[in-house]
Amino acid sequence: MFQSARPGPPDPMFTLKKLADGDTSPNKVDLGIGVYRNEQAGYHELEAIKQAKKILDARNPGHDYEVTVGNPTFLKHATQLIFGSSSKVFQDKKVASVQTISGTGANHIGALFLSRSAEFSGKTVYIGIPAWGNYDPIFSLVGLEIAKYKYYDIEHGVYFPEMLQLVKSAPAKSILILQSCCHNPTGADLTKDQWDQLADAFKENDVLPFFDIAYQGLGAGIDEDAYGIRRFAELGLEFVVAQSFAKNFGLYGERAGVLHIIGKDEENARNIGDQLRCLVRWEFSSSPAYGSRLVTIILDDAGLTKIWRDELDTMKERLLYNRRTLYNAVVNELKVPGNWEVITSTTGLFCILPITPQQCVLLRERHHIHLPESGRINVAGLNKSNFDYVAKALQDVVGN
Ligand code: LMR
Repeated sequence: MFQSARPGPPDPMFTLKKLADGDTSPNKVDLGIGVYRNEQAGYHELEAIKQAKKILDARNPGHDYEVTVGNPTFLKHATQLIFGSSSKVFQDKKVASVQTISGTGANHIGALFLSRSAEFSGKTVYIGIPAWGNYDPIFSLVGLEIAKYKYYDIEHGVYFPEMLQLVKSAPAKSILILQSCCHNPTGADLTKDQWDQLADAFKENDVLPFFDIAYQGLGAGIDEDAYGIRRFAELGLEFVVAQSFAKNFGLYGERAGVLHIIGKDEENARNIGDQLRCLVRWEFSSSPAYGSRLVTIILDDAGLTKIWRDELDTMKERLLYNRRTLYNAVVNELKVPGNWEVITSTTGLFCILPITPQQCVLLRERHHIHLPESGRINVAGLNKSNFDYVAKALQDVVGN
């Protein structure tokens, strides 16, 4: 019956995680998968989450189904985080929001909605190179065409004029994926001025912006990281936002996310929302409740919200400190040849080091330092006990 089944394409990120998790060397440094690591290189549970868990436990809401599209209070807070608390699109009821299986699920339901719409069925999705490896399969799975454009390389940085030109010249109803902050895998984000220019270009052209925001608060700050999205909303554009709570609440395994689609007006948003309700019901009926309940408890309480925001700031500052310390060790102390500016000129969890795939393999095999062959590192995996070790290993593989 199923003889045609063949192995699927490998998943570099989770293959790498398995290798790193299985490495028992005391020297192991995991700079691979995008998880915020603490100083002990482990999973970091936020204090706000610890407190929210206790509150949830005391409330004991049981395990009944959640509303198909998600708890309204959760969705209200999620929307305000993205668009700002006094956002006009929210007040004008132009946003359709549904809970999803984290950011990946938000991308998927968004892609599915577009592929089933009369306007976007069979249209082309433009993905920058390099990008998060899951965009390709998510968008091609639903029958949308994939096209690539060059977003960034280490020597040049972001190819912004080319990106702008693409928005101006792409066929009508093309879709362009945009990462709002902490670009994965490069850490190279657009400036405010570039977001303004891009928003103007989208306003003039019939191309759909599809935002992905998985690291809000870990780049420049909660509001700053949503600058592009808020600018597009201000200009009255219609667009899609895939939001994840995995990284900024440390809820990786709980799969809490939201898909927002901004429609033309209230009636349009209501219809979009009803289509999304159907897609959620047909695919997974209703979203997991645990993670979204924790997020709701935090964002519904001013005290807990403050604790969470402060923690997020501390995490953000630590990422900056890790970048500066690695840069200092590689450039000022060891004087490793190469241009390492990228370590401090980018933001968020990631940057791509100027090393070859072979050197990445050597780092793993010789030094137990785990990173994908693209050279992307998760700077949260660095800590006081491994800065020097990593810098010396880089010196070794670059020198040899
Ligand atoms: C990553 O890029 O490491 C994370 O976003 C995890 C994933 O889903 O690939």
